Amino acid sequence: MSEQQETVRRKRALSCIQPTGTPTLGNYLGALRNWVALQDEMDGCFAVADLHSITVRQDPQKLRQQIKEMFAILIAIGLDPEKNIIFVQSQVPQHAELAWLLACNTQFGELSRMTQFKDKSQKHADNINLGLFAYPTLMAADILLYQPDYVPVGADQKQHCELARDIASRFNNLYGNTFVVPEPYIMKAGARVRSLQDPTRKMSKSDENQNACVSILDDKDTIVRKFKRAVTDSEACVRYADGKDGINNLMEIYAAVTGKSYDEIEREFDGRGYGDFKLAVGEAVAAELAPLQERFASLMKDKAYLEEMMKKGASTASYVAARTLSKAKKKMGFVL
Ligand code: AMP
Ligand code: TRP
Repeated sequence: MSEQQETVRRKRALSCIQPTGTPTLGNYLGALRNWVALQDEMDGCFAVADLHSITVRQDPQKLRQQIKEMFAILIAIGLDPEKNIIFVQSQVPQHAELAWLLACNTQFGELSRMTQFKDKSQKHADNINLGLFAYPTLMAADILLYQPDYVPVGADQKQHCELARDIASRFNNLYGNTFVVPEPYIMKAGARVRSLQDPTRKMSKSDENQNACVSILDDKDTIVRKFKRAVTDSEACVRYADGKDGINNLMEIYAAVTGKSYDEIEREFDGRGYGDFKLAVGEAVAAELAPLQERFASLMKDKAYLEEMMKKGASTASYVAARTLSKAKKKMGFVL
């Protein structure tokens, strides 16, 4: 192979998370943990999607703090800021600008079909704003600016990723090749962690029932207590089966954290009650989260380091984003 052929472009991954509170175990297993796993094989871009978070009303004081905390969490989970571009979305102005260009290439009908829009407009009926509707075009801009091959997300974001692919393909067909058409990257284990209190719904940061949701910064006692109170069924048999949503969810979590298969888990808890099982799940989750909690605590004490990393991330991200944005504007006929 010639030297030129050998310098094949490394694969790229991009994903973002909204700073709307401490991430849940669902965010961690469905997304964050996979980002860390990918960083050795791919060039990663990971961002705090603060512009997305204002589609729902936020308290400015709280938002500012949550942006900083989420940035620290990205480093605390093990993403290396020297190897990846880690940044805050609103500090890279190209996102909002490309979002407008893409909005003019996205159909009303496509956006109306998004289940997250339908859910959120029901939940926030007093504030069904244009941004909430256009949310997926901003997400498409986040993605397409960095020309990634993969977008590692939880299963709930698959629909938005598919729309980003459709927008990219349409743009490429209309104006000539501009964007890489990325693939959603959804790991099976942990892709859809459910509420501990209502296992038919996804575990969500905004759940009002504190027992429904494990935060990645919860201490061990809290985690164990929440799992102890998790809703199960009356069969008293740890097995994965239709109609056992509560136990299925706990088995999925346990499998995702320990790497064990469902068969192995069924054998491990054969003849033992749900109490034992719930305790084991709680302890395994607490052990998995302990190291990142320690790193988070020390990072939050080092304001100067966080600020420096934020600046560096925004500057590298802008450099990459500006190139793609110029290309898109030129193709559309703007005068640069
Ligand atoms: P968000 O909190 O909505 O910004 O989501 C950040 C990431 O976490 C996205 O990749 C989501 O798909 C993922 N995610 C959110 N909730 C869950 C869940 N309950 N199970 C698995 N992944 C999730
Ligand atoms: N919409 C995503 C969520 O709620 C967050 C997000 C914003 C995102 N921009 C993105 C995810 C780009 C992947 C790629 O989870």
